Amino acid sequence: MNLKNIVLIGMSGVGKTVVGKNISEKNNMKLIDTDDIIVCNSGKTIAYIFDNYGENYFRSLESNIIENLSTENNAIISTGGGIIMDRKNIYSLKENGIIFLLEASLDTLIRNVNLSQEKRPLLEEGNNLRKKIENINRERKDFYISSADYIIKVDNKSIEEIGDEIISIFKQIK
Ligand code: S3P
Repeated sequence: MNLKNIVLIGMSGVGKTVVGKNISEKNNMKLIDTDDIIVCNSGKTIAYIFDNYGENYFRSLESNIIENLSTENNAIISTGGGIIMDRKNIYSLKENGIIFLLEASLDTLIRNVNLSQEKRPLLEEGNNLRKKIENINRERKDFYISSADYIIKVDNKSIEEIGDEIISIFKQIK
C-alpha cells in the first residue's frame, strides 16, 4: 500500500465525509476529518465558531490542523470545502498526500446538502441555496482544479463506487 495519504477536497455536499468513511472502513486506513478535529479540539460546533469568532478564526484553526498532519501517512484526510482557499494548506497536504477533487453537478450538491443534518454557516443565511452554492463554486472552481492531482466525478455513482475508484488510482501510484 502507498504510504502517502489520500486527501479529499471539494464543495460542501459532494460526499467527502461519507466517501472518506467508506475508504477508511474498507481498506483499514485511519480517517482524519478536519472539521471533526476542530469540533473535537474546541468543544464547539462549526456554526458556533463562525458565529462567535468569525470565518477567519475558523480558517486559522483549519490551517493549524493541516500543519500538524505532516507526520501522518496511509490515512484518508477529509477536508472542509474551504481548505483550498489558502495555498499553504495545499502545499502541506501535497507533501505527503495525493489530492482527489470530488466534483458534482449543482443538483447533486443541493440534494446532498438538503439531505444532510450538518449546519454549514456559509450556506445558512437567506433562502436561495442554489445561488449560494453556485457563487461559492464559481469563486473556488479554479482553486479546486489547480489543487487536484485527480478529479473524480461523483454524479450518479454510489459511495462505494467512488471509494473504489479512488483506491484503485491510489494503489497504482508508486
Ligand atoms: C466550509 C465547508 C464545511 C466546513 C465549514 C466551511 C466551506 O465543510 O468546513 O462550514 O468553506 O465550504 P464541508 O465541506 O464538509 O461542508
